[in-house]
Amino acid sequence: MPRKFETIAIHAGQEPDPTTGAVVTPIYATSTYVQEAPGVFTHDYSRTVNPTRTALETALSALEGADDGGAVATSSGMAAAALIGYLLKPGDHIVLPNDTYGGTFRFFARVLGEQGIELTVVDPTESAEVAAAMRDTTRIVWVETPSNPLLRIVDIAAVAGIAHSGNSLLVVDNTFATSYLQQPLSLGADLSLYSTTKYIGGHSDIVGGAIVTNDAELFARLRFLQNSAGPVPGPFDAYLTLRGLKTLAVRMDRHCANARQIAEFLTEHPAVGEVFFPGLPTHPQHDLARSQMTDFGGMVSFRTRAGPDVAEKVSAGTELFFLAESLGGVESLLEIPALMTHMSVAGTDLEVPDDLIRLSVGIEHIDDLIADLDQALSG
Ligand SMILES: Cc1ncc(COP(=O)(O)O)c(C=O)c1O
Repeated sequence: MPRKFETIAIHAGQEPDPTTGAVVTPIYATSTYVQEAPGVFTHDYSRTVNPTRTALETALSALEGADDGGAVATSSGMAAAALIGYLLKPGDHIVLPNDTYGGTFRFFARVLGEQGIELTVVDPTESAEVAAAMRDTTRIVWVETPSNPLLRIVDIAAVAGIAHSGNSLLVVDNTFATSYLQQPLSLGADLSLYSTTKYIGGHSDIVGGAIVTNDAELFARLRFLQNSAGPVPGPFDAYLTLRGLKTLAVRMDRHCANARQIAEFLTEHPAVGEVFFPGLPTHPQHDLARSQMTDFGGMVSFRTRAGPDVAEKVSAGTELFFLAESLGGVESLLEIPALMTHMSVAGTDLEVPDDLIRLSVGIEHIDDLIADLDQALSG
C-alpha cells in the first residue's frame, strides 16, 4: 500500500544514520569531503551536495510523488524563483498573475525585465485572459494559488492546458497550500515552488525555498543551475526545515481549522468589510478550491469598513497577532500588505487595497485568537 503524506514527511530520505544509528538526520556541517583518490568520492563539495540537504530534497520530492524528477532546495523562496529565471533568455516572455507576492513581481519586472525578459500580467482566474496573453515566445506561465494576499484560486489543470498548448512551462507557487493541501504536479504543473520559510519550516526561524518537478530533464537542469549559481541552504537551515516538515500535516490541520473559524467570525463582525478566504461558501472560487485542495489553508485577508487608518489601528491593537511580514509559522501574524509585503507593487496592476489586513492564522487556541481580534476591532 502506498504510504500516506504524514508517513512520507517523517521517513522519506530520513533513514537512521548508517554510522551511529541516530534516528534524526545529522547536521553535516562540512564544506568539503575527503576523496579516496582524485575524483573518487560519493560527496565532493557542499554547494554541490550535502547529506542534510539531500534528506530534505528527498522528502520534498517524495511528498509530490516526483519519482521521475526531484527537488532542489534553495536559500530562500526568491532564490528558487531566481533559479527558474535562469531557464529564460532575452526575448522570452512570461505570464504573471495580478495577485502574487510583491517580491515575485519585483524580481520578474525589475530584475529579469532589465535583462530583456518580457512580462504580461493577467487575471489567472480568467482562463481566457491567460490564453490571450500567450505568445510564441512565452516560456513560463506563473500562478500562485491561493494567491497572496487576496486568496484567489487558480484552476491549475486549466492553466496547465493553456501553457502546454504553447511551448511554456507552468510554475505553481504552492507556498500557501503546501503539498499537504494541494499537489500541483499531479494537476499538470511542471514546477512546484515553495518558500519553505513559511508553512514547511513552520516556526519562523529559517529562510528557505525549494522547487519540485517530476520531469527528469528539467530536474537535471535545475540541479545544474543550483550548483552553478549556488543559492543553497546551509546544513543547519536544511535540518530545521526538515524538522518542520515532519509536523507539517498536524500543524496545517490546526491552521486550517483556526482560519475557518476566524473567517466566519470576521464575516459577522460589524467593523469588517469584505473577507477573503477560499473556505467561505461566498468565495467566488470556493468550489474550485474544494476540488483542487484538501482544505483551505491558514491565511485570511479582510478589509475594514472604515479605511486604512482603521486598518493601522487594528494592527496596533492586537496582542497575540504580531505585526510582522511572513506567514506560516505556529504564531499568528498580521500585516497590512499595501504598507509591507506588497509595497513594491504600488502603482502597478498588482496594487492591493490600502485597507486590507492579511492574517497568518497560527495554531494557538482559537478562543484566544478570536478574543484578540475582537478587542482590536472593537477598540
Ligand atoms: C507566496 C510567496 N512566494 C514566495 C515568497 C518568497 O519567499 P522567501 O521570502 O523565502 O524568499 C513569499 C514570501 O513572502 C511568498 O509569500
